[in-house]
Amino acid sequence: CATCHSGVNLGGNGYYPFGLIEKPGADILPEGDKGRFAVTETADDEYVFRASPLRNIDQTAPYFHSGLVWDLKVAVQIMGESQLGEDLTDDEADQIVAFLGSLTGTMPRVEYPVLPVETATTPHPTGDVTDVVE
Ligand code: HEC
Repeated sequence: CATCHSGVNLGGNGYYPFGLIEKPGADILPEGDKGRFAVTETADDEYVFRASPLRNIDQTAPYFHSGLVWDLKVAVQIMGESQLGEDLTDDEADQIVAFLGSLTGTMPRVEYPVLPVETATTPHPTGDVTDVVE
């Protein structure tokens, strides 16, 4: 897995074929959806997609760019078959899912600034955008 899902975010560093060993069915990879090929028009880029980062992965269903898989264990089993040519056992898939669960971190808290209350003397925008640009 780490061949493609590598680096600090366990992925997000490169593009790889989805279906390296076995192309997933149309229920996962919609027919005609050729990934990078749509941008580069290079035959090598057919069905090539960004290897997603796996941090917080158990919080971010649905899975794959198609968003057609909702169960992380199913997504892991699909990766096993399509990328490694491996039929993962139930137990192996459970263990990988448990590991992926350990990649869940604390989300940063975003605090929005509170702007001062508007009063009668607060300058109003003129409504003319060119004033701002100049
Ligand atoms: C040959 C490269 C490659 C290998 C090996 C590989 N993956 Fe992936 N993985 C990808 C790509 C490319 C995607 C994105 C597919 C898409 O978006 O449709 C992906 C997507 C995923 C996703 C869904 C991520 C999301 O946010 O939707 C999970 C989970 C995942 N991989 C886990 C694994 C596991 C576990 C293994 C090992 C059993 C593995 N991968 C092996 C390339 C790889």
